[in-house]
Amino acid sequence: MSAPAFPTRIFSGIQPSGGLTLGNYLGALKRFVEKQDEGIETIYCMVDMHAITVWQDPEKLRQQTREGAAAFIAAGIDPKRSILFNQSQVTAHVELGWIFNCIARMGWMSRMTQFKDKAGKNSENVSLGLFAYPSLMAADILAYKATHVPVGDDQKQHLELCRDIAIKFNNDYKVDFFPVVEPVIEGAATRVMSLRDGTKKMSKSDPSDQSRINLTDDADTIAKKIRKAKTDPEPLPDNLADLKDRPEAKNLVNIYAALAGHTAEQVIKDYAGAQFGTFKPALADLAVAKLEPITLEMNRLMQDTAEIDRILGEGAERADTIARPIVDQVYDIVGMIRSRRG
Ligand code: TYM
Repeated sequence: MSAPAFPTRIFSGIQPSGGLTLGNYLGALKRFVEKQDEGIETIYCMVDMHAITVWQDPEKLRQQTREGAAAFIAAGIDPKRSILFNQSQVTAHVELGWIFNCIARMGWMSRMTQFKDKAGKNSENVSLGLFAYPSLMAADILAYKATHVPVGDDQKQHLELCRDIAIKFNNDYKVDFFPVVEPVIEGAATRVMSLRDGTKKMSKSDPSDQSRINLTDDADTIAKKIRKAKTDPEPLPDNLADLKDRPEAKNLVNIYAALAGHTAEQVIKDYAGAQFGTFKPALADLAVAKLEPITLEMNRLMQDTAEIDRILGEGAERADTIARPIVDQVYDIVGMIRSRRG
């Protein structure tokens, strides 16, 4: 059998635009660790260039990038087995991002719901970078010819665009150069919702801190936020279908399932008929048991920021070794003269 054209390689990224939440942990980090532990080649990135598409205070950006890297490691990413780095240290991303700006169409970008949500009524006044965001994201992935991208549900449309860019590049230049990536959106918590409103995504940018669990929250704060989470007065049903119009209850069941590594079906069977007075303390105990060790390890790692910077630098060098020749080939395909010495 001949080798597959594009060997399996995983890439994913997280923005250091704020502290990480339970949504980032369950929808992304936890699954990144699972992929690493399955022995697949895994490349993970703190996407600082994406973060500055909206204003970031420089000192906070540095702090959040290190904290994000600490969260990766505390959650189980081993910087020897995975490549872990920050995007701005590998220039191949922005170089390929520019080329993709010339491949992607204005119409494609205008349909991105995340852009529309972020820009709101203010689209004249947001940065050009925010509009071009998804083409840099495609460059992150394709600079490594990654084939699989684990993400939460909110990134689905961006990954469809990444597929469109790869297909158009291959067609325009009559090559079979880029893989058409597969989004990996799986598990019970692909969309963790706000603790205050079950119809809104849990987000680091929500003005209410009560709406989310931060990876920096201590055990007491986690337990309090879960106890105060919005719910309804009904007990839990014995099947998932009956949670259809109960977004807050459904969210807590999904969070429990993802934390426990069970399916939502299993959780609903175990807690059929239970009141939230019983279910919430059980969820709080589980959340603290799973998250507290990560928070403590993050705090320990953050004591030595020079070591975090060293790990990111080493990861960037390894990332560059893969991305550089791929982007050099792209220049060649596109028709750029590359005669500079050294
Ligand atoms: P970001 O930083 O918003 O989120 C990082 C990851 O966390 C997931 N996530 C969630 N999953 C479940 N429930 C939630 N409430 C929740 N909130 C966030 C996101 O889906 C994501 O997987 N554009 C990306 C960053 C990026 C990227 C990439 C991702 C840049 N380049 C290349 C993959 C590949 C973003 O803003 O993620």
